[in-house]
Amino acid sequence: MKIICLNFKMNLLKKDIRTYLNQIENKVKRENTIFFPNCLHINDFYQKGYLVGSQDISFQEFGSITGDTSIHQLKELGISYTIIGHSERRKYFDDDKYVSKKIKLALENNVKTILCIGENIKENQAKSSSFLQEQIDDALKNNLDSITKENLIIAYEPVWAIGSGTIPDNNYLEDTIFFIKDFIKKNYCLDLKVLYGGSVNKDNIESLEKIKNLDGYLIGSESLKPDKILELVQIIQ
Ligand code: 13P
Repeated sequence: MKIICLNFKMNLLKKDIRTYLNQIENKVKRENTIFFPNCLHINDFYQKGYLVGSQDISFQEFGSITGDTSIHQLKELGISYTIIGHSERRKYFDDDKYVSKKIKLALENNVKTILCIGENIKENQAKSSSFLQEQIDDALKNNLDSITKENLIIAYEPVWAIGSGTIPDNNYLEDTIFFIKDFIKKNYCLDLKVLYGGSVNKDNIESLEKIKNLDGYLIGSESLKPDKILELVQIIQ
């Protein structure tokens, strides 16, 4: 069964969440769909019995970090998943520095992790393997005691495909996903699942579904529209 992660980023208000929840009621499978709303709305999804995650966690458990949110506070709201290393966090909040520490904290606290990796520039496709290797090594090398194939999932999100309406072609995606899985298997003896993220929508999902080694999707803007997401989920299921 494919894993479907819906990342709302910094969107929607409380009233939108109420409408959203009404519209999707009994229409999505709870076991493979994970919602990543703004942290203010996590508990609304949890109360309805959905799997829910945070879009990030603080690198510290508690303390003087103004504006940050502790994994323990997020767990109180109902998360069982978190995204770590999203390119927007890496870009705006210098998260390259904290990815390894955040993964450690999440896994030690039994919060499953979606680790985002991806090259920055389309022209860098040729060089992307060394870029991806560096991001994988940085995230995994100090956390091998806690990582299992159940608690860590990789999301391959080429930064240039996020929000751009442009996605890599299927051959490139299939090769890159193979590369990521193979690199992790050979170097870390782990069989990790790999999702794709970046401009996934109801119009390109049928084509993406032809990619054999893909385990699911991390979807941004399309996830904000319940009617579109229901159509998309229907195609995947
Ligand atoms: P879009 O689907 O809007 O391109 O966003 C992808 C993403 O960043 C999901 O984490």
